[in-house]
Amino acid sequence: MGGVSADHQPVSAFVLPFSGVNPSDRVDLSVQVGALRLANPIIAASGTFGYGLEFAHLVDLNRLGGFVTKGISLQPIEGAPAPRLCDTPSGMLNAVGLQNVGVEVFVKDKLPLLRKYNTHVIVNVFGVCQEDYVGVIERLEEAEGISAYELNVSCPNVKKGGMQFGSDPALVEEVVGAARKAARKRPLWVKLMPLVTDIGLIARTAERAGADALTVANTFPAMAIDFRTQKSLLGNLTGGLSGPAIKPITLRLVWEVSEAVSIPVIGLGGVETVADVLDYVSVGASAVQVGTASFADPRASEAIVGGLSKAVNDINMFTFNELRGKFSEENG
Ligand SMILES: Cc1cc2nc3c(=O)[nH]c(=O)nc-3n(C[C@H](O)[C@H](O)[C@H](O)COP(=O)(O)O)c2cc1C
Repeated sequence: MGGVSADHQPVSAFVLPFSGVNPSDRVDLSVQVGALRLANPIIAASGTFGYGLEFAHLVDLNRLGGFVTKGISLQPIEGAPAPRLCDTPSGMLNAVGLQNVGVEVFVKDKLPLLRKYNTHVIVNVFGVCQEDYVGVIERLEEAEGISAYELNVSCPNVKKGGMQFGSDPALVEEVVGAARKAARKRPLWVKLMPLVTDIGLIARTAERAGADALTVANTFPAMAIDFRTQKSLLGNLTGGLSGPAIKPITLRLVWEVSEAVSIPVIGLGGVETVADVLDYVSVGASAVQVGTASFADPRASEAIVGGLSKAVNDINMFTFNELRGKFSEENG
């Protein structure tokens, strides 16, 4: 093979591109959520990413900032009757009924398989009474490979006439306080209900009771029916609305909560694009979760991670954190 001598190389071959580095590669995407350092702000949301394992052949889990497991309860739950999902304009309804394998099987069968991934595993926890929440956390405390707990307070409290924990400041104080005592090893995130009179009040209550971060928010109670059959389009009569339809509402909630507390806020609701992420961060979110978008495209969260550096570079910033709360600064 006759090599080309340096004398015969075109001049352009000796001119290095500017610094040899693509400016987007210099963007620091890492974010801090309390004690947790995430490689980037994208977290797959609870209930839309299984136990993570179901997505591992499609998504490089190591590229995500983390993922939240489906809700885990003390005992296994079979869930709601079919159909469990239905399309709505710009979104979907779900009534899965919090189906899960229960904490024991999760710890023994699922968690060990997740340890080989280099990403944060956040376990979503729920119960129908305070003791349930505590019981799940106590069992999880004995296990390795968990980065944080996310408390789902959008659940009916059977001891208080079915009133949802997250709708009443006194119940929030009790359940978060009890979970805080049980969660000795790890950060406690509290996932708020969106449909409350004053989300700032609930957020401050959760912060006071010991939450390390707040996830805003869960699905909106909603329904879809067929007037011809007078039946619900779900096996349950009602379900939870998610997807782009809720984004403008949750964006406002994330903004309000970010103004109300000093702990980190994780925003979600209808995130499909990099621009959606930047909107949530602008109003104060430290990180963002991707839920329903994973149903349309299981790789949605990884695709968003792939577009973040360029988007941050395009707005002339070097770190993701520079954008956080900018909207509030400009409009305060
Ligand atoms: C099918 C389905 C199951 C869900 N299960 C849970 C759950 O177990 N625990 C929880 O806290 N949130 C659950 N959620 C709520 C999502 O995590 C998220 O808060 C909500 O869907 C809004 O985000 P999105 O618009 O990006 O989907 C579920 C959502 C869907 C669509």
